[in-house]
Amino acid sequence: MATIAEIFETLEYGPAPESADPALAWLEERGREVLPFIGGEFRRPAAGEWFDTLNPATAKPLARVAQCGTADVDAAVDAARAAQGAWWELGGHGRARHLYALARHVQKNARLLAVLETLDNGKPIRETRDIDVPLVARHFYHHAGWAQLMERELPRYVPVGVAGQIIPWNFPLLMLAWKIAPALAMGNTVVLKPAEFTPLTAFAFAELCRDAGLPPGVVNIVTGDGRTGELIVRHPGIDKIAFTGSTEVGRLIREATAGTGKKLSLELGGKSPFVVFDDADLDGAVEGVVDAIWFNQGEVCCAGSRLIVQEGVAETMYSRLRARMETLRVGDPRDKAIDIGAIIAPVQLERIDRLVRQGVEEGARLWQPSWSCPRDGWFYPPTLFTEVAPSATIAQVEIFGPVLVAMTFRTPEEAIELANNTRYGLAASIWTENVNLALDLAAKIKAGTVWINSTNLFDAASGFGGYRESGFGREGGKEGLWEYVQPRWKAGAKTEKDKKDSGDSKDREDDEDAAPTALPAIDRTAKMYIGGKQARPDAEYSRKVLGPGGKLIGEVGEGNRKDIRNAVEAARKAASGWAKATAHNKAQILYYIAENFGARREEIARRLDAMTGSGIEAGRAEVDLAVDRLFAYAAWADKYAGTVQATPLRNFTFAVHEPIGTLAILCPDEYPLLAFIATVAPAIAMGNAVVAVPSERWPLAATDLYQVFDTSDVPAGVINIVTGSRDVLAGVLAAHDDVDAIWYFGTQEGSAAVERASIGNLKRTWVDYGHARDWTDPEQGMGEEFLRQAIQVKNIWAPFGE
Ligand code: NAI
Repeated sequence: MATIAEIFETLEYGPAPESADPALAWLEERGREVLPFIGGEFRRPAAGEWFDTLNPATAKPLARVAQCGTADVDAAVDAARAAQGAWWELGGHGRARHLYALARHVQKNARLLAVLETLDNGKPIRETRDIDVPLVARHFYHHAGWAQLMERELPRYVPVGVAGQIIPWNFPLLMLAWKIAPALAMGNTVVLKPAEFTPLTAFAFAELCRDAGLPPGVVNIVTGDGRTGELIVRHPGIDKIAFTGSTEVGRLIREATAGTGKKLSLELGGKSPFVVFDDADLDGAVEGVVDAIWFNQGEVCCAGSRLIVQEGVAETMYSRLRARMETLRVGDPRDKAIDIGAIIAPVQLERIDRLVRQGVEEGARLWQPSWSCPRDGWFYPPTLFTEVAPSATIAQVEIFGPVLVAMTFRTPEEAIELANNTRYGLAASIWTENVNLALDLAAKIKAGTVWINSTNLFDAASGFGGYRESGFGREGGKEGLWEYVQPRWKAGAKTEKDKKDSGDSKDREDDEDAAPTALPAIDRTAKMYIGGKQARPDAEYSRKVLGPGGKLIGEVGEGNRKDIRNAVEAARKAASGWAKATAHNKAQILYYIAENFGARREEIARRLDAMTGSGIEAGRAEVDLAVDRLFAYAAWADKYAGTVQATPLRNFTFAVHEPIGTLAILCPDEYPLLAFIATVAPAIAMGNAVVAVPSERWPLAATDLYQVFDTSDVPAGVINIVTGSRDVLAGVLAAHDDVDAIWYFGTQEGSAAVERASIGNLKRTWVDYGHARDWTDPEQGMGEEFLRQAIQVKNIWAPFGE
């Protein structure tokens, strides 16, 4: 008699396909045409251009799709603009009810959506049915909650306006939900473009919006390829762009939006490490790998595509993995027993194939299962590369297919080094039974999400997004909401130009009475402050600092590229140590600066008055406010650590606030002391090392602080100061690949230049587009906006128990 286990082994596999008929009938009823949804109606594309969307499992067309052009995008933006005011005024509760209705409609149509997604994308029905669609509903429910709570939780914030959203083909409906739900919750309206390969579920969702009674124009969907995407990106009527897709297109979008004032979030590629220690539950880890790289055909931005395994268990792991790969089923994605479906398109299949061939040419060892894939669609077998050099193309480039590359390590340090040996930083997965080791690695790997003994966990309550060239901005959780709001004061704020035009300029007439008498000697030329030492400017040029009436009151060094290079090097060297210093320690140093600097109140107030001519009282007031800021950020240093996210499962999901690294700050001219402190203090309080360029016009207040820093235990290199031209130095800093983020408070043109120059390493930018900020105002000149810009969020998922 055969045992039950043997019966299972020998059991014949019989296909169990989900019927496509209802979904095909649904398409048939709509004339097999996918139309844009604009102002609550489906419209025909103005230019009459179309293309086909194909089923990747059969290579046959499913429907023809409108290629939207200028007229369509204009109409969609107009509709979104027209609807936005009323949508916001509806209030949080009203918007919550609409989002709730959308969630309900998604659930009621779950099977249709799942089948349409599988037909259009080629992913297994098991995944669309059990993962994509339920997560879509969950996202709308969760954000209905944020809409409800917005007035209470974000009282000082208002919507950005009209959001342009561009999404990829790998999770068509889920990415739509990630984009639309938070935007709507915060009172924005949207123009969304699905990927050209996968427009069907967005089309179906548009109908749900109509059926659910969403006001016309709140959600607009335009279909088309990259050209349509570009029209959205460049449209002057759009206030924010949210993009998920390739790093290449992300870079183009950064460039195109630079200087336009559009808010931007980018969720780009990845090459995520999957680290297995020798004490890990290896069978669990093998199943983890299956989920990490063969889920969704490996077409996942956070796929665990690099297996980094400890030497002693590597061969065991590989052989178990090969045995498991042999049992994976590739084929008709409608079949409920299929593990891996079809690759999206021939172009992607060719890309995978080309990279795999390159892997072999570069000397890695290839293994694929013995069976072959079906030939009537675009399929690719699960693939394992071993003996991969860390520098090999396949170890560095995002393949976006079912291809795993494996390499080994001996010590935890080596594992961290390999894990971080990438320009990306989207996610990481760590496998060990040692909680100490797991959390140590979680802290040291540079990635927006870290999964411990688990992988590819997603939830609306947890933010998702990248470090480094994986992009910036988060989707999900409270941190994701910031992408769709702006401070209330800013929404009504005037730009510098508006102020000048209205004669409201800060520049004041000369005031002889205010001209100080007891001034420091003119021959004292302030040097740079680099690595805790005063440094002579490289070019040995200096620039004059003039007081009211053009009176020379001092000189500072004219910083150049070399000075910046030195300062960035010093900051980088200091950054890791400073990041590790305890929050308590950081707070102590900030208090100490405040104390030492407060003791020099009179002297610094006189200096301010000499430069700006604003009077000694105004100088004292500025010093007092600067001391107040130092106290505030000292207070926050140990109180802005993150949150625990309420994701489902038995697990802790910690949203940890981490420093960004090396932060460049270009200070404005106004309030030369206060603005310097108000920017540098939050940056260092959150653990960054800083290269600051003080006020170009009145830098002396900052250079007077060198001794204060020296006597306040600020570690060398944590604060570096280079004086000179704001825009020249900003250009160098923005283009510097060792600078991780840049804040620029200058002109509109300068802001644009900073954003454009930042594309090299896709550093985070925070610019003011020439908006005059009142630095004395507690809302504009301090607070959470500053803290948020000084950190990046890492979500660590730690499941426990059974
Ligand atoms: P893509 O980045 O070109 O497409 C993503 C979206 O951007 C689509 O909706 C597309 O129409 C739109 N788009 C394209 N060019 C645009 C432009 N100039 N301006 C505005 N929007 C534009 O990605 P694609 O071509 O589908 O795939 C190329 C490679 O990118 C893949 O082989 C894969 O490696 C990677 N990729 C990564 C994704 C991720 O989530 N990390 C998602 C999709 C692709």
